[in-house]
Amino acid sequence: MPLPSRTFIATVEDMRRVARRRVPRMFYDYADSGSWTESTYRANEEDLQKIRFRQRVARNMENRNLATTMVGQPAAIPLALAPTGLTGMQHADGEILAAQAAEAFGVPFTLSTMSICSIEDVAAHTTAPFWFQLYVMRDRDFIERLIDRAKAAKCSALVLTLDLQILGQRHKDLRNGLSAPPRMTLGNLVNLATKPAWCWNMLRTQRRTFRNIAGHAKGVTDLSSLGAWTAEQFDPTLSWDDVEWIKKRWGGKLILKGILDPDDARHAVDTGADALIVSNHGGRQLDGAVSSVAMLPQVVDAVGKDIEVWMDGGIRSGQDILRAVALGARGVMIGRPFLYGLGAGGREGVTKVLEILARELDITMALCGYRDIHQIGRDVLVPGSYPGSPAA
Ligand SMILES: Cc1cc2nc3c(=O)[nH]c(=O)nc-3n(C[C@H](O)[C@H](O)[C@H](O)COP(=O)(O)O)c2cc1C
Repeated sequence: MPLPSRTFIATVEDMRRVARRRVPRMFYDYADSGSWTESTYRANEEDLQKIRFRQRVARNMENRNLATTMVGQPAAIPLALAPTGLTGMQHADGEILAAQAAEAFGVPFTLSTMSICSIEDVAAHTTAPFWFQLYVMRDRDFIERLIDRAKAAKCSALVLTLDLQILGQRHKDLRNGLSAPPRMTLGNLVNLATKPAWCWNMLRTQRRTFRNIAGHAKGVTDLSSLGAWTAEQFDPTLSWDDVEWIKKRWGGKLILKGILDPDDARHAVDTGADALIVSNHGGRQLDGAVSSVAMLPQVVDAVGKDIEVWMDGGIRSGQDILRAVALGARGVMIGRPFLYGLGAGGREGVTKVLEILARELDITMALCGYRDIHQIGRDVLVPGSYPGSPAA
């Protein structure tokens, strides 16, 4: 589905508006929501906005570099696509299209355990290695097989998510009766009738349910058994000991996602992981938790010398990427921005979002007086305007 030709899209916010028009309500709402009062979801964006840059002038700004590495792997800008569940419901074959856009742009793509397209689907339609995100389930045989499938698909890092062993409640999903594919209730049919391009693309693909799980987990053969399985499978006993066996079984680069506290960051370092992501799951889990950016400097100060620290949550512009990098993040992940691009215009929409972010980052870095992303530190920020800063 191409981007609409008559809508001018200059920002991620423009893209969000197009996605809201084009994606069925239950899937748009699934992306654009946080848990309970959504206070943490809002804080992620708001706290980034408060951080101010120092404007510097008369410094050579020619020949700028944004390229870097994340766990040793090249990234055209310091950014990776975050793992997001049900991405193939924002747009048919969504995970494949987003992975292709990321590959062409030169940034890493992460496939969620709860994706619609499977590990094998994405591997068959891309050439660059992608990352696989793991949720730990009670069925450890299934987890071991999942890890082995990610290895067989030549995934180049495992992202282990630690902050969703119990699901935070999102009111909109309950009200909408979220399911994949959508149930054919009268309300859904009426809404789907207003999204003809989405329906047409969805009818032309076979990929409409959780393909990493269906047919792979014991006893999961159809939609109703899948629903019951996922509800009871997320393992609330997950502990740091489990991280050890997962690391051993995987044997490659390991990234721990969902760290929001310096004490947990030290545990993460002790596991020998290669990177950690300061994250509150995009405000979708513990409502009332602080924003990711508010915790970033503390985590960097605690463990930044021992492990790569990344951040996600609320990144909506290149300015936000620069803010996170200035506070010590080696890179960021984006969730909703790329989902809006996907819903608005498939692969082209994701590419456009990456282009918008890269251009904003490039120009902002230049206006701060810098030419290389590796030179960026807290001194590009106005003291007193960022978390943990000395007062102005
Ligand atoms: C619709 C949606 C689904 C998500 N699904 C997953 C998931 O399956 N696994 C995971 O580790 N994180 C998941 N996340 C969290 C993202 O990986 C990421 O932490 C978050 O989106 C970052 O915030 P942002 O959307 O403001 O960029 C999801 C987020 C969204 C918005």
